[in-house]
Amino acid sequence: MKPPRGKLPLPIIAAVICALTFIALLYTERISFLSSSAILKLKPCARRHAAKSTKSKTDERSAQDNLLNYAADDRFEFDPNECSVVHGKWVSNSSIKPLYSDSTCPYLDRQVTCVKNGRPDSDYIYWEWQLDDCVLPRFNPKLALQKLQGKRLRFVGDSLQRGQWQSFVCLVESIIPKDQKSMRRGRVHSVFEAKGYNATIEFYWAPFLVESNSDIHIIGDPKQRILRVDSVSKHVKHWIGVDILVFNTYIWWMSGPKIKSLWGSFANGEEGFEELDVPVAYRIGLKTWANWVDSTVDTNRTRVFFTTMSPTHQRSADWNNKGGIKCYNETKPVMKKRHWGIGFDKRMMVVVADIVEKMKVPVTVINITQLSEYRVEAHTSVYTDLGGKILNDEQKADPLHYADCLHWCLPGVPDTWNQIFLAQL
Ligand SMILES: *[C@@H]1O[C@H](CO)[C@@H](O)[C@H](O)[C@H]1NC(C)=O
Ligand SMILES: *[C@@H]1O[C@H](CO)[C@@H](O)[C@H](O)[C@H]1NC(C)=O
Ligand SMILES: *[C@@H]1O[C@H](CO)[C@@H](O)[C@H](O)[C@H]1NC(C)=O
Ligand SMILES: *[C@@H]1O[C@H](CO)[C@@H](O)[C@H](O)[C@H]1NC(C)=O
Ligand SMILES: *[C@@H]1O[C@H](CO)[C@@H](O)[C@H](O)[C@H]1NC(C)=O
Repeated sequence: MKPPRGKLPLPIIAAVICALTFIALLYTERISFLSSSAILKLKPCARRHAAKSTKSKTDERSAQDNLLNYAADDRFEFDPNECSVVHGKWVSNSSIKPLYSDSTCPYLDRQVTCVKNGRPDSDYIYWEWQLDDCVLPRFNPKLALQKLQGKRLRFVGDSLQRGQWQSFVCLVESIIPKDQKSMRRGRVHSVFEAKGYNATIEFYWAPFLVESNSDIHIIGDPKQRILRVDSVSKHVKHWIGVDILVFNTYIWWMSGPKIKSLWGSFANGEEGFEELDVPVAYRIGLKTWANWVDSTVDTNRTRVFFTTMSPTHQRSADWNNKGGIKCYNETKPVMKKRHWGIGFDKRMMVVVADIVEKMKVPVTVINITQLSEYRVEAHTSVYTDLGGKILNDEQKADPLHYADCLHWCLPGVPDTWNQIFLAQL
């Protein structure tokens, strides 16, 4: 965890020690197992938060209310330096009012509009990620646009990142008048513009971040794909001059145990590849990306984020549904704390953590893996499209072949990724 740039050190030594203690606790990754009495000992360090604690201090009644609120909810106000977003639980709340639906937001791809595509249940929309130790603020579209005032925000990565981009656009677009917004979609680069705010929210397609022979003309057979693990140069002209960059890359690396990798320059073109173990290739590729960021990004102007891997749910035995077919027909998240399945590769996470840790430019990690791992029921499943067409009834009846357990319905889980992103922005 790195402090965001420009944050002043706390003035009082005691406060610093307190903060360090807390961070040290976070590093043990066992904070959720600490009793609340252990957390209470840290009370003088942080501003305590209670949902309705904004009334005047002199009001005795409200002071009492506050005490009651403390008893009910002893979580801290969200502070990105102190709060862990990975430890929490999903709480169902049917009175949530989603900021958009797949019929109100015109910018969603058919791939993710599950309700429109015939998904019969909608419970999956009404879950909130509740942190163990802090109160994660709801996504506030006005605040988001204020933060983007005069700025360019660009999501860079694969189709999951495209989902996060569409989610972000839909979360803010409803408060912008019709004549104040525009959308330009391209194969590689898409731009949503909020004119009144002089802001753009963009997506740039680079599924491996590094170059590959499958970036634009996608090669169906993973064995034919070759990565230039030492080069990002074809992409980076689209990464320069952006104020907020949000990267991801994971799923495209996971098509087999090895991946064809090329580095340096070869007279015989793509024939000089070497088959590397996926985590090895991933490490070199991410390092290439990190070197570019460290050598190019002006930290006075640009903030860099990295969204961690989005887990897949291909094996229902992982969450003890032995008769299930992948994520098909699931209607409830997994409730078992710290549930992990096979759709998450720990080795790849270690690579991300290692590389980001050593970077000169502070990279804020949007750590969505654990919270998404619980949501076996929130994928597009058979309520998606294939080649631009919604699955027909025959295909819907064959989830083994057609259920998509990678991508997420929108509205849905990526809205929570953006809630976390905005809280860290
Ligand atoms: C559920 O959502 C409503 C409306 O946003 C909110 O007032 C309420 O506190 C939430 N309930 C829980 C248990 O979080
Ligand atoms: C809009 O933002 C850009 C930076 O992204 C800035 O250069 C430009 O001056 C701004 N325009 C207005 C009209 O504020
Ligand atoms: C960033 O800002 C600081 C303080 O304003 C300044 O000293 C430094 O030179 C700037 N760095 C760049 C790369 O412009
Ligand atoms: C899926 O759920 C529906 C409705 O609950 C049920 O009729 C159907 O048998 C289920 N299919 C499978 C393969 O479990
Ligand atoms: C993300 O959180 C998980 C725990 O849920 C942790 O194991 C992992 O190291 C974190 N990833 C990064 C890049 O910080």
